[in-house]
Amino acid sequence: MSSGLKLIAVVFAVVGVLDKTAVVNGSQFTGDYSKLSGIIIPDHAECKSRPDSGLSAITELDPGYITGAPLLGSVQTVEATLSGFTFGLPVPEGTARLMFNSFGSSLWMTPFSEYCTSENVYSKHFSSGRRKKHNVYHCDDLEYRFNYSGFPTNIINIEIPSVVEAYPSFEDEMQANLSKVGCGVPTQLSFSAREIADGTFFKAIEDYDPDSKRLLYQLDKLYHGDPVMNPLTPWERPPLKNIFCIYGVDSRTEVGYYFAPSGKPYPDNWIMTDVVYEFEGSLYTRSGNLIEGNPGAASGDETVPYNSLSYCKNWLGPKVNITRTPQSEHEGEDVQVHLDVEHHPGADIIPNMTRSPRVKYITYYEDSESLPGQRTAVWELDKANHRNIVRSPILMRELWLEMWHDIHPDKKSKFVTKGKRGPLRDEDCYWDYGKARCAWPEYCEYRYVFGDVHLGQSCRVRSSSADLLLSYV
Ligand SMILES: *[C@@H]1O[C@H](CO)[C@@H](O)[C@H](O)[C@H]1NC(C)=O
Ligand SMILES: *[C@@H]1O[C@H](CO)[C@@H](O)[C@H](O)[C@H]1NC(C)=O
Ligand SMILES: *[C@@H]1O[C@H](CO)[C@@H](O)[C@H](O)[C@H]1NC(C)=O
Ligand SMILES: *[C@@H]1O[C@H](CO)[C@@H](O)[C@H](O)[C@H]1NC(C)=O
Repeated sequence: MSSGLKLIAVVFAVVGVLDKTAVVNGSQFTGDYSKLSGIIIPDHAECKSRPDSGLSAITELDPGYITGAPLLGSVQTVEATLSGFTFGLPVPEGTARLMFNSFGSSLWMTPFSEYCTSENVYSKHFSSGRRKKHNVYHCDDLEYRFNYSGFPTNIINIEIPSVVEAYPSFEDEMQANLSKVGCGVPTQLSFSAREIADGTFFKAIEDYDPDSKRLLYQLDKLYHGDPVMNPLTPWERPPLKNIFCIYGVDSRTEVGYYFAPSGKPYPDNWIMTDVVYEFEGSLYTRSGNLIEGNPGAASGDETVPYNSLSYCKNWLGPKVNITRTPQSEHEGEDVQVHLDVEHHPGADIIPNMTRSPRVKYITYYEDSESLPGQRTAVWELDKANHRNIVRSPILMRELWLEMWHDIHPDKKSKFVTKGKRGPLRDEDCYWDYGKARCAWPEYCEYRYVFGDVHLGQSCRVRSSSADLLLSYV
């Protein structure tokens, strides 16, 4: 479970350990990149794993690197609560479901609406008739003006069982409604992110599912009733000097599910009948049907939808500098820069920039003006996958350069320059078979060291690379 959930979670921060882990000693650009991840806050079952604990941890550190954070939740959580999600573990889905639903922390990645926040009001929503004080969602107009709570589509479409005996606690009231629908015809209900986060969904399937009451109780007690902070509420920009919010885009990502009763006993009583994906500007189901909705400007990182990842763009100010460069090494030929692009609060900011087919880009959104002395940056990496973005060599290179820039006494710009990217480590040098020499001769040279087993290994960074680094200040 613990290893499984890690894939949904993770806020990870980088401490200022640069001097110890990475040095430029004249000839070498060395560094133990794995140590750059100072703190990883895994979503470990019942232990301190909620976003508030992550928040407090990263506030002690500066800068704050937030990678692939599902800031508005992950729709896969919902899949896990209904049919189990084994995260690759060798357990049956039913067992995975039982495990998932018995942990209070399971719900913290529940998708929720960015237009709703917690508020103390009297509500009878959770309290089965007894009036007591509750934090419930208060939603602003936008929630009702736009469909789907700002997500691309409804997160759950579920068929309610038509067979009356399906569940013993089946109520008469529901029988009456079902008979209106027609005997044996299942009813399909759809739920948006708001309706999942506020308990409407679990309430609606309560009579057909023994886990519902427990999930409702957890939702109420641990989340909406949390006196300190309800995690199912949009994050403000964390109060750090430097925020780097980094995520992958443009992968096919699950954004909604169809469920139906499976006819099997609990915990296998639901079966997923279809999945809705966001990809390349449209929404379609696994079975191939296009569906209507609000697809975003991009798609997510395969695990978390784009709207949830990109929520941190709200932390950028009214003017944003946008730069798009290829991810691979380049000499600046395909670098696009738009300065002071207008950013309207609450709206996505999408650059009007070109893309060559088959080139993977990294798009940087940077603001060093709106908050005096503070910087906010958002990096979007094409096709970077949620599960391995923290190990991506491109991300590691960019983080290293950014930190190297930040501590450099002669830096002239607020962020590291994007003008060119050459090989910086021996690993970045490789053999160019077409030209029969090391690629990037300006940066790499052939230098055999005993033990090398192929040509590429003997291509090493030239000793002048420290001077090359100066062009990144
Ligand atoms: C919301 O959904 C309703 C019903 O499907 C539709 O009539 C309306 O145009 C939608 N509104 C927006 C803003 O998409
Ligand atoms: C059944 O229908 C009545 C009236 O149409 C409605 O007030 C009630 O909320 C419905 N109950 C359920 C469980 O949907
Ligand atoms: C995008 O840029 C192109 C050329 O740079 C321009 O013709 C077009 O009007 C721009 N589109 C928008 C929506 O700004
Ligand atoms: C954009 O870049 C320019 C030039 O480097 C800089 O002067 C300006 O402050 C930047 N704008 C923002 C919003 O950071």
